Amino acid sequence: MPKEVARTLPAVLYRDPMVYETERRNVFGHSWLFLGHESQLANTGDYIALTIAGYPLMAVRGKGGVIRAFHNVCRHRAGPLVEDGTGACGENIICRYHGWRYALDGRLASARDFGPATSFDPREYGLFMLRCEAWHGFLFATMDANVEPLAETVAPLERAVSAMNIERFAFSHQSTHEIDCNWKTYVENYLEGYHIADVHPGLNLAIDATHYEVKIEPPVVFHSAPPRGNASVAGLWGWLWPCLGINVYADGIMMERISPVGHGQTQLNYLYFFARDLSESDVRRSIESSEATTREDIWITQAVQRNLDAGIYDTGCLSPRHEEGVGWFQGRIRDALNKI
Ligand code: FES
Ligand SMILES: [Fe+2]
Repeated sequence: MPKEVARTLPAVLYRDPMVYETERRNVFGHSWLFLGHESQLANTGDYIALTIAGYPLMAVRGKGGVIRAFHNVCRHRAGPLVEDGTGACGENIICRYHGWRYALDGRLASARDFGPATSFDPREYGLFMLRCEAWHGFLFATMDANVEPLAETVAPLERAVSAMNIERFAFSHQSTHEIDCNWKTYVENYLEGYHIADVHPGLNLAIDATHYEVKIEPPVVFHSAPPRGNASVAGLWGWLWPCLGINVYADGIMMERISPVGHGQTQLNYLYFFARDLSESDVRRSIESSEATTREDIWITQAVQRNLDAGIYDTGCLSPRHEEGVGWFQGRIRDALNKI
């Protein structure tokens, strides 16, 4: 019996704003989302804020060193709290609309001119708290109270990196790219090595893409390919549902978050961590080679998206040899879209 070739998802799922709205709720609203690293929050009051799939999120280090995550939204009239990025908010998180002040544990500390003579009870207006857990210092949050603990979600990754002593890597650089494509277009490109020979001439010299392998251990997909000669790119390429690449090399680790911004826009955030004793020139070389590969991926995914938008192509097919990871991802998307 010949192996069945799977069909791809229809193109409309990559361009329809209503599909994106469903994905926001059903995928991003129920997954662990990568925020950053604990070391970016060295002191009390330090925060990271970011927007993923339209959800404004923040994590802040409170008194006693505890890191908590909240929606970056004021409970008064939905004003903005801290700006996206990293920073320090001191002892209080202060809304930029009317100045409500929240303690670092999320309790409302003061609401100007809401006097004691009213029925107002500040205990009802604490920040919307999210579950926040860490894995090797990497912070994740989820909006779903019932999602399994982070340790269970990342168990396949933990098995893969447990002997690699990744704590020796320290946060070094961050970079951001805006891409004109649906987030799934970029994820799917990440999930296969079939395109390496055609799209990444540099990477193709460093690894033997003919022996590229994909291994699925839900919710993680692993990729591997043997290095050519003494190239240093070989390592562990992992990907965690729904939108995080985790690339571990001999001298560093690179977290790659693929954040949807809208149905046709995606933001790529790289966080680079390197061995503390790695030379500046090796750090630069490593970042440059990663950014070169990224430019090629951006070029191809934007071209694919234009064709998905054009209304000519509807569905295609997946290589059983190379695109199993894409097929698994598309299956999860199908499930998520069928959920009420
Ligand atoms: S919306 Fe935040 S204080 Fe008014
Ligand atoms: Fe690529």
